[in-house]
Amino acid sequence: MENTIVVDHPLVQDKLTRMRDVSTISTDFRVLLKELSTLMAFEVTRNIKASGIKVRTPLDMDCAGVRVESSDIVLIPILRAGIGMVDGVLEVMPQARVGHIGMYRDPDTLEAIEYYKKLPANISGCQLVILIDPMLATGHTMAATLDICKKAGAKNIKIMCLVAAPEGIREVRKKHEDVPIYTAAIDERLNDHGYILPGLGDAGDRIFGTK
Ligand code: URA
Repeated sequence: MENTIVVDHPLVQDKLTRMRDVSTISTDFRVLLKELSTLMAFEVTRNIKASGIKVRTPLDMDCAGVRVESSDIVLIPILRAGIGMVDGVLEVMPQARVGHIGMYRDPDTLEAIEYYKKLPANISGCQLVILIDPMLATGHTMAATLDICKKAGAKNIKIMCLVAAPEGIREVRKKHEDVPIYTAAIDERLNDHGYILPGLGDAGDRIFGTK
């Protein structure tokens, strides 16, 4: 799959497998999701700007190093399941700014409908915008969110998810070939209700214990 990066690090895969397990309870699911998001953030942010600086070590006056300024990186979780991944990313980029986009899927048409949007100011000047949703299922929500972000001026956008369906990747690719998709797995397919198989069930329900 073009421009799709599967993060196959064993630590990521271990956590994903635990999350898939139906016997994993919400409290553990949340912790695993947070840890996995931190690990994936390393790959998604591999090419961010880092300025060269010098620091004084206990033994040397002039040690070359780097500093990352993450306040011009924007995280946009898609409500509600995306929220479960934000803290894990902020763990390693505490100054990143966070916007929110609320979308729900029409149960009949599976089309994405926007119900909430709050984006950071000057998103067009940001070096990187990361759209976050654990499940890339039909791809309608993600494609609609990409439309919103591009309209707002976002330039360098990446998608971060946990499990992607081939159908979802294809849908995103129809209009947004330029946007890389980072995922921990590409699963088999969608079922008739738009859920990913084998997947991990409803991510929102498992994060928030609503079922
Ligand atoms: N949303 C989920 O939470 N799970 C799926 O499998 C598909 C969409």
